Amino acid sequence: MQRLVVLISGRGSNMEALARAGLAAEIALVISSDPDATGLERAKRLGLPTQVLDHREYESRDDFDAALGDAIATRDPDLVALAGFMRILTPAFVARFEGKLLNIHPSLLPAFPGLRTHDRALEEGVRVHGCTVHFVTPDLDHGPIVIQAAVPVLEGDTGETLADRVLAEEHRIYPQAIRWFLSGRVRLASGRVVFREPPPAGAAVLYSPGLDN
Ligand code: GAR
Repeated sequence: MQRLVVLISGRGSNMEALARAGLAAEIALVISSDPDATGLERAKRLGLPTQVLDHREYESRDDFDAALGDAIATRDPDLVALAGFMRILTPAFVARFEGKLLNIHPSLLPAFPGLRTHDRALEEGVRVHGCTVHFVTPDLDHGPIVIQAAVPVLEGDTGETLADRVLAEEHRIYPQAIRWFLSGRVRLASGRVVFREPPPAGAAVLYSPGLDN
């Protein structure tokens, strides 16, 4: 069976969505960069092995990323899924796991990388918001896009109501992107997303370009 390592820093709802998605892969390890992440309890309740790598205990980003890479490598995963992992990764780390790193971000990238995406979307007055699964590059919340889901911004939305609506889509598209990856349907080639065959049409889901041929 293929193996997944999931990286978290907080609540872990995306990690749980992956654990419950019936993927053709086992979650071999959940690593948290924060010892107080509530997602750790969630992972334990789901029966998943966990490990804490407290980034504050490392002198430099390079040291932390080297330790993180070593912890991941112990499971020799097919894929490393960042699920609310709030750390910028060094180029060396990204190179070590090139083509095997996916991230989910709560906006339609490249709009609104970083934090407070829902409040910023409301402040800008966008009519369409959403979430993105992308391959990881050393740039924060940036990289070749695998799948996006769009949600409308509704009259009276607050950051919370919008976040809830986007999160429901996150829990849908992240397992989908990982299924495609594990089955070889999507991969990274020369820094671009390549689909073996066109993704199926799906309601309210927008797919990135970059199809084969
Ligand atoms: C999710 O909304 C995820 O998209 C976001 O953090 C949240 C984590 O929630 N990630 C980022 O902002 C990455 N830049 P979760 O811990 O419940 O999955």
